[in-house]
Amino acid sequence: MKRKRVGVLISGRGSNMAALVEAARDPAYPAEIVCVVSNRPDAAGLKFARSRNISIHVIDHKHYSTRESFDAALNDYLQSQNLDLIACAGFMRIMTSVLLEPWAGKLINIHPSLLPLYKGTYTHERALADDVKVHGCSVHYVTAELDSGPVIAQVEVPVLAGDTPETLSARVLVEEHKLYPKALAMVARKLG
Ligand code: GRF
Repeated sequence: MKRKRVGVLISGRGSNMAALVEAARDPAYPAEIVCVVSNRPDAAGLKFARSRNISIHVIDHKHYSTRESFDAALNDYLQSQNLDLIACAGFMRIMTSVLLEPWAGKLINIHPSLLPLYKGTYTHERALADDVKVHGCSVHYVTAELDSGPVIAQVEVPVLAGDTPETLSARVLVEEHKLYPKALAMVARKLG
């Protein structure tokens, strides 16, 4: 089976992108990370990608007056890379149909909660406020409704007494870094 060509979208730290890049170093992994794209020129993750000789590309959303025109520029670049899949990894942009339609079924995201619980931001704060005993993370297909596409895989993480948003998010992040490479491999293998 030919390894699937994957582009990763980031906006910041890029630790999940780094986990995907590290997993894909194994020649037996069913996907290769061919490019990392950021909507922010200062995203810290770009430095890591560069250090691993991954092609990086910045499309600054501030240079576009509408979501659609930004998505069109992003889509043009992604199409030019001949990709099979796109993995969002802390990509903080709401996508329009300009991007969603051409990539339907090929666009995945990681989210720090047990979806369908806690869609959107501040997931750890909200989970703690609700006093839940179990939190976690999910990888899902991206669809028009935010964080609502079909779930591909998820992992539960216990909430411990005395947890703060910081301690809980750190515990969840460790699991994100294991879950995302596994979920991407599943999706890549499914493509055949
Ligand atoms: C992660 O918690 C991810 O689940 C969420 O945003 C965070 C990004 O972190 N979508 P990083 O940039 O991958 O380090």
